[in-house]
Amino acid sequence: EKGGHASFMLKEIAEQPKAVADTLLGRIDAEGSLTLDEVRIPAHELRETDKVVIVACGTAFHAGLIAKYAIEHWTRIPCEVELASEFRYRDPILDQRSLVIAISQSGETMDTLMAVRHAREQGSKVLAICNTNGSTIPRESDAVLYTHAGPEVAVASTKAFLTQLVACYLVALYLGQVRGTKWGDEIRAVIRDLAGIGQAVERVLGTMEPVRELARSLAGQDTVLFLGRHVGYPVALEGALKLKELAYMHAEGFAAGELKHGPIALIEEGLPVVVVVPSPRGRSVLHDKLVSNIQEIRARGARTVVIAEEGDETVTPYADHLVRIPATPTLLQPLVATVPLQVFACELATARGNEVDQPRNLAKSVTVE
Ligand code: F6R
Repeated sequence: EKGGHASFMLKEIAEQPKAVADTLLGRIDAEGSLTLDEVRIPAHELRETDKVVIVACGTAFHAGLIAKYAIEHWTRIPCEVELASEFRYRDPILDQRSLVIAISQSGETMDTLMAVRHAREQGSKVLAICNTNGSTIPRESDAVLYTHAGPEVAVASTKAFLTQLVACYLVALYLGQVRGTKWGDEIRAVIRDLAGIGQAVERVLGTMEPVRELARSLAGQDTVLFLGRHVGYPVALEGALKLKELAYMHAEGFAAGELKHGPIALIEEGLPVVVVVPSPRGRSVLHDKLVSNIQEIRARGARTVVIAEEGDETVTPYADHLVRIPATPTLLQPLVATVPLQVFACELATARGNEVDQPRNLAKSVTVE
């Protein structure tokens, strides 16, 4: 049932190109527009939406953090992202014009479910992004956009995460399409790029041997840090979470711009730091700032693992290990940048003798608070 793979996690990592393609299937029409019939929230209500609030836990929360960049850029609607467990215990400001998006692989996470119930009590519309047909969260929501990742067995979420990202981009683009923002041309171009993203993920998967080798060589480390900016920041958080849960190592993700505000004090000789570099095209300021951050940490002894676009040569002198990913539009980069981090965590955990499908102390679905 593992299809020749040593673990469900490896199988599910390998299934990602198909999971991504399946989640797009039937949702882009021949003209390159989105048809999200499942989103049964009427267009006029979506046009009146004045706030989007995303609630989720763990890896799904990281997908939400990335979605915020896309939603605000393409729709100009303010978007908040909150851990479901925090959301329900403060007094969040919601009304009929708020669109709440609940992201959950299982559809059974108690904290997320409670957040959904709270939002509906306030009169807000709730859209679920979910991987499990007929589960509780979609049943209690106004509408659902299913991710078509197929069953995810390994406790650590991989293919569900990538499909959650795809679903979030679809929602963001759809909101932009319905509301007719000035980004119309960009939206059409991104839809075209999304259609090719499965192949890009496949390319990344084909080049992972050096990442596995590196992971094995780091099995004796105590700490690994992850840095990113913009959408690369939640990718860094996700890389760190995967390493914590699978390898039982101390791992932290930081926004690279925060280095000087504290975390740079952690850098010492030989400390592995994984850095997600934004595309040098598009918002190139981001890229250049990150390259300076790599120089700063390397000058203090960090062993840099640099994840950068193919053809980006500016990073080469500062990379102890260079991991190449295909060029994508800035906002879509997490779909390719996350994959090496999954492989890295899985291999490092295996090298430490851990059971990757069933990490200690964790359950696949957290149905208690
Ligand atoms: C991490 C992981 C968890 C889940 C979280 C939410 O690899 O699997 O952090 O992402 O428990 O679960 P769902 O998406 O089922 O609500």
